[in-house]
Amino acid sequence: MAIIIKNQEQIDGIRASSRLAAETLKYLEQFIKPGIKTIELDRLAEEFMTKHGAKPATKGYKGYKHATCISPNDVVCHGVPNDYELKFGDVVNVDVTTILNGYFGDTCRMYEVGEVSPYAKELMKVTNECLHLGMKECYPGNHLGNIGYVINEHAVKHGYSVVFEFCGHGVGIRFHEDPQVDHVAKKNSGPLLRPGMTFTIEPMINAGKARCKVDRKDGWTARTIDGKLSAQYEHTILITETGCEALTDINGDY
Ligand code: MF3
Ligand code: CO
Ligand code: CO
Repeated sequence: MAIIIKNQEQIDGIRASSRLAAETLKYLEQFIKPGIKTIELDRLAEEFMTKHGAKPATKGYKGYKHATCISPNDVVCHGVPNDYELKFGDVVNVDVTTILNGYFGDTCRMYEVGEVSPYAKELMKVTNECLHLGMKECYPGNHLGNIGYVINEHAVKHGYSVVFEFCGHGVGIRFHEDPQVDHVAKKNSGPLLRPGMTFTIEPMINAGKARCKVDRKDGWTARTIDGKLSAQYEHTILITETGCEALTDINGDY
């Protein structure tokens, strides 16, 4: 599979879908409170996407049944929404991928439930910095591998580890396209970036060991092997003539 260079029409479509995915995460903010079940958040997200003319890409994807992935505390990613009630002090990631007019937008972020520990805050801050450092490497002519190189450097400097079992990915025309975007990579490795490429950067950073284990009952939920916290942020990125645009960054955080 080759990396798809998107034309203007496709870019416009991916931009619109990405915006809606980001708006879905923003909409959920008001509901993140102690006592809400993750399955209820999933329902609210699906309702919002549907109301705005989109479909959740995850529903029916490889047998996955939900509109979002919701990953609290030691869940690294692919947390299956269920009857778990968020509690005061939890941190939780929600990941949404929209299909709008056939185009895909993919984003995730962390939320704090009530007041969280300084330890959790620091992990989330560094993880967000990892995403932003990765984005700084996004310009034409740079090697894709430099994204993972700077992410790993930054995480390790803070005593954290980078998950290598799950990666970023090309996105836009399909849910998962080439290239695979590793969050640990060698300097100046991988293909050269070109305008019109769209892919995600979605580092998962663990407070403890990098390894994950997938829940045997639901077949999806990936947890840290040591039970320590994990954090993740994700944007859909467009490579432009001069650098990049984060199509899911509607708050202008970057
Ligand atoms: N949205 C996730 C990603 O960032 C993928 C979820 S796939 C699912 O790539 F099937 F688990 F939903
Ligand atoms: Co993704
Ligand atoms: Co995602």
